[in-house]
Amino acid sequence: MADRRRRSRYLTISVLHIIMIMCQALTDEPRFAEPIPNVTVALGRDANLPCVVENLGQHKVAWIHIDRQMIVTIHRHVITRIPRFSVSYDNQKTWLLHVNGVQQQDRGYYMCQVNTNPMISQVGYLQVVVPPNILDSMSTQSTVAVRENQNITLTCKADGFPTPKLRWKREDGQGISVDRRKKVLAYEGEQLNLTRISRTEMGAYLCIATNGVPPSVSKRITVDVEFSPMIWVPNQLVGAPAGTDVTIDCQTEAHPRAISYWVFNSVMVLPTKKYSTETTENSYRADMKLTIRNLQPGDFGSYRCISKNSLGETEGSIRLYEIPKPSAPPKATEIKSSANKEGRKSTPAPPKRQTTIWPAPYNPQYPRRTERPPTNEEQIVRAEQKPRGDASTGSAYIVRWSAPQLMIVAVQYILTGPYMPPYIPQNGN
Ligand SMILES: *[C@@H]1O[C@H](CO)[C@@H](O)[C@H](O)[C@H]1NC(C)=O
Ligand SMILES: *[C@@H]1O[C@H](CO)[C@@H](O)[C@H](O)[C@H]1NC(C)=O
Ligand SMILES: *[C@@H]1O[C@H](CO)[C@@H](O)[C@H](O)[C@H]1NC(C)=O
Repeated sequence: MADRRRRSRYLTISVLHIIMIMCQALTDEPRFAEPIPNVTVALGRDANLPCVVENLGQHKVAWIHIDRQMIVTIHRHVITRIPRFSVSYDNQKTWLLHVNGVQQQDRGYYMCQVNTNPMISQVGYLQVVVPPNILDSMSTQSTVAVRENQNITLTCKADGFPTPKLRWKREDGQGISVDRRKKVLAYEGEQLNLTRISRTEMGAYLCIATNGVPPSVSKRITVDVEFSPMIWVPNQLVGAPAGTDVTIDCQTEAHPRAISYWVFNSVMVLPTKKYSTETTENSYRADMKLTIRNLQPGDFGSYRCISKNSLGETEGSIRLYEIPKPSAPPKATEIKSSANKEGRKSTPAPPKRQTTIWPAPYNPQYPRRTERPPTNEEQIVRAEQKPRGDASTGSAYIVRWSAPQLMIVAVQYILTGPYMPPYIPQNGN
């Protein structure tokens, strides 16, 4: 009897307990199990935003794009007409908002809302990043020309998200002069100001846009620095005996590329059996060489090298004069141009300023078309003008030296280093 009553009481408690649990389950309000993660995705990719809700019961989950104040989905229905959005759910807990091929306007805060009373919600952020892109129409075109010593500003504009940073470099890896004071390997900014640009700053520049989203992009801008031709004559006086071959040369700098040629006796020198010309070009520099074969009396005189471009014209002149044939054995004589060439290869080119001929219709420093051979005095003056350390010689032979000549040579040597053997007037001039 008592046993039965006890059992029935136990049953009652159990039933009550079950009812209680059931009631509790029914009345337990929905709650978010975890926050919505912040999602970063590149433009055009797909993104998923999860919202995890416990005890959803009969309530419904809605997704709202706060930035556009737009209801995206309610329960299993897509409300927005933007076809990129869809929703899926699994085990009634995780509600996943899908965005296919995200666009920039999809960026922003998304709210996951449950229609309890009062409603509950949480937000997550969808970040849409965009790789950098250079805006060609707003940037400097790919080739620009500027006159030397003028200012030029190179501009590069880029978009992307986050806003890209722009960096400038020279393609050949040389430094960029900033404000003509310091040189940097890379310069940051949308604009690169090249002030009083020099010919050494000619070349390709790259602007590189980066924002941490691959790939980085760059634009190549070629800067042409234009200037009228300049000529530098390494040896203005060249002596050689009749019957030999001699090579004379002029070094030019010009941009745009110059037309260069040689003139003798007012006639343009054309390549023949007698003459051969050779021009070695290196960027805006060119080395013009003229070889005259089997020198005859009529070949001595003044040769002019002329260089012309759209900005101007200039010329250099070289006096070729006759010296006697060596009477001594060859050993005592030859310091020919080959030695000269070798000597110059190993020594760096001397500073050009002193001997550069600036563009001018006539340069009084270099007498033209004078048949008079140079005097010793003139040679010394010229020797002093010559930069120190240049061991090149214009003349081909040294003959016997008299005592006064030897002294002049010695003085010249002390002053300037070896330059030019004195002219020995033996042929009646
Ligand atoms: C998402 O980013 C916001 C700031 O933009 C921050 O307040 C929030 O805590 C982040 N949420 C998560 C889950 O990292
Ligand atoms: C170039 O820029 C420098 C420095 O900004 C200025 O002094 C100079 O006047 C400018 N030259 C020209 C031609 O604009
Ligand atoms: C570059 O030059 C432009 C004008 O051409 C000027 O507005 C700008 O401030 C200069 N930038 C720098 C860094 O000097």
